[in-house]
Amino acid sequence: MNCAQGTCACASAGTLRVAVLVSGRGSNLQALIDAQRRGGMPIELVLVASDKAQAPALRRAERAGIATLALDPRGYTTRAAFDADLFARIGALAPDLIVLAGFMRIIDPAALAPWQGRIINIHPSLLPKYPGLHTHARAIAAGDPTHGATVHYVTAQLDGGPAIAQAQIHIVPGDTPDTLAQRLLAHEHELLVACVDLIARERVRLDGTIVKLDGVALRHPLCIGGDQSPAA
Ligand code: GRF
Repeated sequence: MNCAQGTCACASAGTLRVAVLVSGRGSNLQALIDAQRRGGMPIELVLVASDKAQAPALRRAERAGIATLALDPRGYTTRAAFDADLFARIGALAPDLIVLAGFMRIIDPAALAPWQGRIINIHPSLLPKYPGLHTHARAIAAGDPTHGATVHYVTAQLDGGPAIAQAQIHIVPGDTPDTLAQRLLAHEHELLVACVDLIARERVRLDGTIVKLDGVALRHPLCIGGDQSPAA
């Protein structure tokens, strides 16, 4: 099923065609692969694309029999040229949804524009806290009692698009950036799978700049997984 209008991620006529962009390990990709294989999740993973030919995530996709694409940004004169080519190649497969799962590049706004409402990202912080890098270390350094991950629609603002859902966990005494990242990861997987599932079932969508669940605007991101209730 493809949305010819290019403005929504919908799955009324079948499975949601999903492309995943990755740069590294690919554990979030693996969570999607595993969830899809378990059945009951109406998605088809049509492409895994990367800016790093050696990304372990690409090997995971190959093992799962998913089409892969590796494009080296060094072969392009500008970021815009790379992004235009990457997104044209993705577009040729007509995905309904693009998932950024550890894709470590800022994307040119012109390449993003046609995908508004059809591209999501998972970020390891409770946005709007800590956009960008080193989120675990920043949360610990700030003395935060909690940390987490956010799935959000992607806009031209880095890690700044409308949030769909968050997983929140405690920071415990002795946590290091590594222990915190490791503990968060399992919650990220649950969060990402749940968000893609909600989109595939047409329960979540972006209406302008507003995320809607079952047609009702979200006042706060949904709380999915994590080890505690959302802050009041
Ligand atoms: C995750 O922490 C994700 O939140 C962030 O990059 C990391 C990717 O991990 N955007 P993996 O490649 O999915 O294992």
